[in-house]
Amino acid sequence: MHNKGFIFDLDGVIVDTAKYHYLAWKHLADELGIPFTKEQNEQFKGVSRKRCLEILLDWGNLKVSQEQFNNWLAEKNEDYLSYIDTMTEEEILPDVTKVLKYLQKHRVPMALGSASKNARAILKKVGLIPYFNTIVDGTQVTKAKPDPEVFLMAAKELNITPANCVVFEDAIAGIEAANSAGMTSVGIGHKNTLSDAQYVFKDFTEIELNFIKELAEL
Ligand code: BG6
Ligand code: MG
Repeated sequence: MHNKGFIFDLDGVIVDTAKYHYLAWKHLADELGIPFTKEQNEQFKGVSRKRCLEILLDWGNLKVSQEQFNNWLAEKNEDYLSYIDTMTEEEILPDVTKVLKYLQKHRVPMALGSASKNARAILKKVGLIPYFNTIVDGTQVTKAKPDPEVFLMAAKELNITPANCVVFEDAIAGIEAANSAGMTSVGIGHKNTLSDAQYVFKDFTEIELNFIKELAEL
């Protein structure tokens, strides 16, 4: 078995769904009269659906019943799923498949580590299930990123020690989770936003296979 393991976040790393999460939250925020900007949305990345709504309601100074809370959660998810419904493999971000194929060819164990409860359905829609040895998603974890639980669980399932795992993440909370798990963190996004990541790339088109080769110790 290979010594190194690769763990990928889903939303905003493999597929361009971060924009749909934003649109669905923006829709709900508008409805509730709570201002919601793209900068604020950065704080929602990697964070569970429930926690996002708690934060949004805090910003709006709204206290609501459990029933209302659950209704809004459901509304956000339905809105989000209406975007996901039409997704095809064209929404896999550029050069992601190239990297997955390369790692698979070299038998490097790969895991998905996502906060999303919709992760499996999305991977299926875009045809990427076969690349992953294991999928850890929002239905399995109890502690959301920045807690390292999701990545530690993925490492365990891959049977690779955390120090030998490399994590690809677009979220501030995700980079924090990878770092506190003792893993190598690779940020996908802006250098200023992801300043705690060990490496940062704008997207996968900036990543050379040689860099992957070195990280994977091939
Ligand atoms: C993460 C996203 O991957 O999943 C977050 O970055 C999102 O923005 C979280 O809130 C939960 O997703 P879902 O699909 O279960 O609502
Ligand atoms: Mg993400």
